[in-house]
Amino acid sequence: MFKAERILIPAEQIQQRVREMANEIEADFQDGPIYIVSILKGAFIFVADLARALKRPCVRIEFMGISSYGSQKTSSGQVKVTRDLDVNIEGQNVLIVEDIIDSGVTLSYLTRLLEQRKPKSLEIATLLDKPERRIQPVRVKYVGFTIPDEFVVGYGLDYAEDYRNLSDLRILDSVSM
Ligand code: IMP
Ligand code: MG
Repeated sequence: MFKAERILIPAEQIQQRVREMANEIEADFQDGPIYIVSILKGAFIFVADLARALKRPCVRIEFMGISSYGSQKTSSGQVKVTRDLDVNIEGQNVLIVEDIIDSGVTLSYLTRLLEQRKPKSLEIATLLDKPERRIQPVRVKYVGFTIPDEFVVGYGLDYAEDYRNLSDLRILDSVSM
């Protein structure tokens, strides 16, 4: 059985950091549209807040489905595109928005895939980073919070599809009954 009672990052702190990240992104991306490629489902709340904190009107929001986890807490190491983009990103400034980088398997695969489509630029923004767990390198430009090796839920992140709706980020503890 699991319980998610320990708050790792409270909602207000997340909101403040997301606004700071948006300001950095706003300053780095010059004119023209930003193509946000958001990874379903975990990044859906982060991308909604981040996009609203960007002040320019020209922000395109696209979604991709990638699976590498199933309902387990550890990576299967297998990455599959379950929903592809329906826009052409050639020549565009693309920002991948992800909830968390863990092993790096998902994002190193996705970066290679999107590079083949010849965007003008390709950067990554992740809310959370667990660098201790990295097995594949990822070049990530914007990191919300670097966190220890704990399984976290809330603010879009799930365990077996639960907890996504929580406004805080919490640590999932296993409890014996
Ligand atoms: P990676 O391929 O190992 O970097 O895993 C990235 C994906 O694993 C994320 O998009 C999440 O869906 C999932 N994941 C990794 N760590 C956590 C966690 O602590 N909580 C919830 N999901 C996680
Ligand atoms: Mg997940």
